[in-house]
Amino acid sequence: KDIEQLRRSLLGWYAQHGRDLPWRRTRDPYAIWVSEIMLQQTQVTTVLPYYQRWLERFPTVFALARADLQSVLKVWEGLGYYARARNLHRAAQMVVDDCDGRVPREVNVVMQLPGIGRTTAGGLLSAAFNLPVPILDGNVKRVLTRLSGSTLPPTAAQRLLWQLSEQLLDRNQPRDFNQALMDLGATLCVPRQPSCPLCPWRECCVAYHLGLQEQIPVSARS
Ligand code: ADE
Repeated sequence: KDIEQLRRSLLGWYAQHGRDLPWRRTRDPYAIWVSEIMLQQTQVTTVLPYYQRWLERFPTVFALARADLQSVLKVWEGLGYYARARNLHRAAQMVVDDCDGRVPREVNVVMQLPGIGRTTAGGLLSAAFNLPVPILDGNVKRVLTRLSGSTLPPTAAQRLLWQLSEQLLDRNQPRDFNQALMDLGATLCVPRQPSCPLCPWRECCVAYHLGLQEQIPVSARS
């Protein structure tokens, strides 16, 4: 009942305040996959032009798979963390060779692909196929840490936060729910001076009620 209220308020907020991002306008699993890899270590505003250019240059998983590594790295140039581009290229070849070019719809299978960890798998499968797979990137960790009021250090909290992400996930709308959670962390529940008065979850947020939203999550080195 309580959880249902959390889902409803978050999805309501997202319908009104969610960001309009190009990878949310597509259902193409390959395009969404590209966006998730770029967003792993790079801000949305930086990713936007790279995402567009990448899809012009490599519009399908087949185009990427048959491209040579040099041209792949060239298009990635400027984004940094080049292992991401190498892994994406190699993973595209695996998907073409082993799966007829189709992104697998199973978490444990996509996680076998180079560059796809648990949260990327969740972001990809929920956005592309509306599958109920939880996420836990840096922003979502902060949101759920504050919501639960956990003062465990980040590594100890990890298990708890994955469980919470899975429990909260709206199984009827996993795509929108996960995107909403990411937006909450990126736009309101930011590290410093979060906009608690605007937050759809403030009434249930333990950190907010304790006045500790600036102290939680506790920093890794204290
Ligand atoms: N970070 C990772 N995935 C994202 C997405 N789909 N939208 C916004 N930020 C993200």
